[in-house]
Amino acid sequence: MLEKVDKIEKEALAELETVSSNEELHAWKVRYLGRSAELGEVMQGLKDLDAKQRPLVGKRVNEVKVALEEAYDERVETIRQKELSRSLKEDRLDVTLPGRAQPRGRLHPATQTLRRIYAIWADMGFQVYRSREVETDEYNFELLNMPAYHPARDMWDTFYTSREGIVLRTHTSPGQIHVMRERTPEPIRVILPGMCYRYEQITARAEIQFNQVEGLAVGKTITFADLKGTLRAFAQRMFDQDVRTRFRAQHFPFTEPSAEMDIECFLCEGVGCAVCKYTGWLEILGCGMVHPTVLRNGGYDPEEFSGFAFGMGPERIAMLRYNIGDIRMFWGNDLRFLEQF
Ligand code: FA5
Repeated sequence: MLEKVDKIEKEALAELETVSSNEELHAWKVRYLGRSAELGEVMQGLKDLDAKQRPLVGKRVNEVKVALEEAYDERVETIRQKELSRSLKEDRLDVTLPGRAQPRGRLHPATQTLRRIYAIWADMGFQVYRSREVETDEYNFELLNMPAYHPARDMWDTFYTSREGIVLRTHTSPGQIHVMRERTPEPIRVILPGMCYRYEQITARAEIQFNQVEGLAVGKTITFADLKGTLRAFAQRMFDQDVRTRFRAQHFPFTEPSAEMDIECFLCEGVGCAVCKYTGWLEILGCGMVHPTVLRNGGYDPEEFSGFAFGMGPERIAMLRYNIGDIRMFWGNDLRFLEQF
C-alpha cells in the first residue's frame, strides 16, 4: 500500500510540472487533492489493513497530501509570475508604474482678462452683445458720423477687402448701431467684446489684431456724471479700490463730448516711471456721450434719449495688470509666456 502512495505522489508531482494554465491547475487539484482523489480511496481502504500497517500508511498519506498542497501553491505562484512577465513583454503595460502627469491647459491671458471684464460689467447689469468682425463701411464709419472722405477716418488704419464697401472692423463701435437698431426703443446696457483689425505698424504697444470691449448705455436720463461714476466703479474693481482716475478731453466723431480715462500708474504710484512714460498716469479707455446723429442712426430720438459709450483694449489692460512689456507676446504662442498665467 505504501508503494501505491509513493507512486501517486510521484505521478502527481510529475504531472504538476507540465501544468501551465489556471484551467490545468484546477483540473490537477480536483484529480489529486479533490474529494474523489486516489489518496482518498487509500484512506478509505485503511480499515482493511492490519493494525501494524494502518498507522504507517495513514501517516504517509497525510505527508503526501501536505507535500502535494505545497507543490500546488508553488506552482500557482510560478504560473502567476510567468503570466506577469508574458503580459509585460507582450502587452508592454506595467500597471504598477506611476502614471504620467498630463500637462495642464490654461486660459490665454487675453481670455482671462476678458472674462474678468465681463464679470465686472455683468455685476453692473451689462449684457454681452456679439457683433460681426467683417463689417460694411456704412456701419464701421458712416453711421458713426464719419461720412466718406471725412478726415476722422484717418484715425483708423483700415483693412479693406476686395469686395467694395466691406472692411474688417477697426473697432467694436459699429456694434452700437446693430444693438440700437435691434432694441429700439428699449433702454440698453450692453458690452460688445471682440477682435478688431487695423493696418498698423506692429510695435510693442500696437498689434494689427487685438480685442476691444465696447460699452453702451442708452436711456432717458443718462448724463456724463453716470458715465464717469460707472467707469470709475469699473476701474476700482478691475485694478484697486483706491485707484485714482482722471478724465481728459478727447475727440471721437461718434461721441460728444468725448474723453479718455486714465488711472494713476500703480507701478510708480503717480511719481513717474518708464511704463507711464513719466506722466504718472496710464490711459485705459476712450469714452463719451453718444452723439445725437449716432442715436438717430440707431433709431433713438436724441430729444428723448441719451447715452454713453466707451471702448477699451483688454490686451493693454492685461499689459498693465501683469506688467507685460510687449503686446506681441499675446499672439506669439510662446508657451514660456503663456504658462506664466
Ligand atoms: C476707439 O477705437 C473707439 N472706438 C473707442 C470708443 C468707443 C470711444 C466708444 C468712445 C466711445 P481707440 O482707437 O483709442 O478708440 O481704441 C480704443 C482702445 O483699443 C485703445 O485704448 C487701446 O487699448 C486699444 N487699441 C487701439 N489700437 C490698438 C492696437 N493697434 N493694438 C492693441 N490695442 C489697441
